[in-house]
Amino acid sequence: MNVALAVTGCIAAYKAVDVMRGLQKAGVSVQVVLTRAAARFVAPLTFEALSGRRVITDMFRGGENVQIQHIAVAQQVGSLAVVPATANILAKFAHGIADDFLSTLYISTPAPVLLAPAMNVEMWNHPAVQANVEILRSRGHEFVNPEPGVLACGMEGEGRLAEVETIVSRILNLVANSESLAGLKVLVTAGPTVEDIDPVRYLSNRSTGKMGYALAQAARARGAEVFLVSGPTHLTVPAGVHATFVRSAGEMKEAVLKLYPEADIVVKAAAVSDYRPADYSHQKIKKGEKETAWALSPTEDILSLLGKVKQHQILVGFAAETENLSGQARDKMTRKNLDLIVANDVSRGVFGAENATVQIFTRTGESVTLENQSKRTIAERILDTAQAALAARKTLDVPGQTRRT
Ligand SMILES: Cc1cc2nc3c(=O)[nH]c(=O)nc-3n(C[C@H](O)[C@H](O)[C@H](O)COP(=O)(O)O)c2cc1C
Repeated sequence: MNVALAVTGCIAAYKAVDVMRGLQKAGVSVQVVLTRAAARFVAPLTFEALSGRRVITDMFRGGENVQIQHIAVAQQVGSLAVVPATANILAKFAHGIADDFLSTLYISTPAPVLLAPAMNVEMWNHPAVQANVEILRSRGHEFVNPEPGVLACGMEGEGRLAEVETIVSRILNLVANSESLAGLKVLVTAGPTVEDIDPVRYLSNRSTGKMGYALAQAARARGAEVFLVSGPTHLTVPAGVHATFVRSAGEMKEAVLKLYPEADIVVKAAAVSDYRPADYSHQKIKKGEKETAWALSPTEDILSLLGKVKQHQILVGFAAETENLSGQARDKMTRKNLDLIVANDVSRGVFGAENATVQIFTRTGESVTLENQSKRTIAERILDTAQAALAARKTLDVPGQTRRT
């Protein structure tokens, strides 16, 4: 497995040598990339002598190689780790500036990215730096945050590069994960749907899409080809994910049915409207003084439909309930022919929150509770469980036969 280890211009650049050696010890093949500034701190020769491999320092290397190097490397690497990461490289990655080898490699590769920043505490806390970190996190990149301590500049505070062992183990995790869904297609739905009543009003719900987007990011980081079908949200589509944007439950059904036959794992995290107005009014409905009633028609139950036509797919549903969580969730899993279901208690204000408490139930009777966990952590556990279900199904399948569950 292949990691591009990029080193940028920090005092802590010398620690990247130990990170490289830690990865090599674990059997990882490492391609080192140095920025010009990094090469002022540590000689490329140090990395070359220890890795036995040429280090890339320059976009315009000239001469003997006719390959476009940043594209060739971009296609080969399994993961990109930047250790240490300067404020400068965070800004260039966040804004797509491509003025040297590393920044051009970043926008050319679909590989998962890990960043281990190191800098002075004032730099780290600067709103510009924090805004860039936020942008990069929202793309699904992983951070090994700097630690508090005495910094090279003599100041004290958060900014020191994290411990080498921590960084090595986080990169190894990324590497292990980055292949686990390679070659598979994952379909995720996210966000609310919106049912128009008239030109100014609509019927919708409180879903923000964070859970579905976290799932898409996590699946992409595991090497899957990911298709996200999203209702309206304010979120950024994770890097490398194919997105289809829809508005109504009807549009979501169409988009999902198109992608379903090819998908291996399908996670329906969207909060699809159960009802739509029976009639759309082309004119704005006038305000009245008296009580009024609007007729609603049920929308089609997409999850049930997918359960009915399921073949090889692992189908994951969500149950947002306000009472009898486990009973309702298990019942929904059976009725809709799901392989697993994620139940959350929406009376506890899950919509829009960063963390949630959920229970994952499988068809084979196991259940796990995740108490107040980040949506990314929950996404990882859902994918672990879906992968286990997929592996179990494959061992049961007779080659050459299509299986109907
Ligand atoms: C002695 C010295 C130490 C530096 N340490 C850091 C640092 O720890 N973090 C950082 O973000 N920038 C640091 N810088 C500034 C970067 O080297 C500078 O922003 C450079 O343009 C980064 O280029 P690069 O991101 O292409 O490597 C340091 C500069 C000098 C001269």
